[in-house]
Amino acid sequence: MAEDPRPPAWDLYWATVEGQLGTGPSGFVRWALPFLRSVPGTDLVEIGSGAGRDLGYLLENGFSVRGVDFSSEAVRISRQLLATLAPEVSARGHVEVGDATAFLAGLPDRHLSGVVGLVLYETFSDRELDELFRGILRTLRPGGVHLWCVRDDVHPLREKVTMVPPNQGGPPGRAVDHTFFSRSKCDTLTGLGFERVALEPRAETHYFFVADRKPVASPPAAQ
Ligand SMILES: C[S@@+](CC[C@H](N)C(=O)[O-])C[C@H]1O[C@@H](n2cnc3c(N)ncnc32)[C@H](O)[C@@H]1O
Repeated sequence: MAEDPRPPAWDLYWATVEGQLGTGPSGFVRWALPFLRSVPGTDLVEIGSGAGRDLGYLLENGFSVRGVDFSSEAVRISRQLLATLAPEVSARGHVEVGDATAFLAGLPDRHLSGVVGLVLYETFSDRELDELFRGILRTLRPGGVHLWCVRDDVHPLREKVTMVPPNQGGPPGRAVDHTFFSRSKCDTLTGLGFERVALEPRAETHYFFVADRKPVASPPAAQ
């Protein structure tokens, strides 16, 4: 089977941008925080945790967060960031190298309060997205939330994927395929078993911010 070009492309990306992104939280995770706080419990997973800026923010807001990223370079940088936090804060965080779907497959059912995924679904195939979303649904507790952010399908760079990370600055001819998301594609993924809480288009950045909830099982019918 051909080698997956995505992890080395992301390694190159993180090796190039280290120090340029800053450690401040993304606008997305600040938007996501009230949804995460609406769920009982504090156990979260961030898939594609990158250099750890949002993972650190969630830890500082009282959550316990496991991050997973298939770029070992990203994980190296995020561990450096964790080491700068107060010991009682960083103790609630853990980051490891791995594939998001495989990582979720190793977790028990119905226990997470939230799963966060910021701008990584673009390089998943439809089959991979289906498997990932089903894994998120299985691991969330009833009422748990999936907060996700994807590039929209009128993004100005959709015709120039060689300029979109992780391709930006990468070797020519090795571009990683990208998907840009329509509303209906977002709705189809939510329809795998979630309830839509919010979908917010961000016109200036061409992102969709999405909040989905695992349905709370209906109470037993009254006798
Ligand atoms: C655009 S970056 C976002 C990183 C981080 N959320 C942030 O905003 O700083 C996407 C990250 O997802 C990771 N990634 C992409 N596909 C993945 C997969 N299947 N499993 C694990 N990590 C993945 C990449 O290595 C990359 O670090």
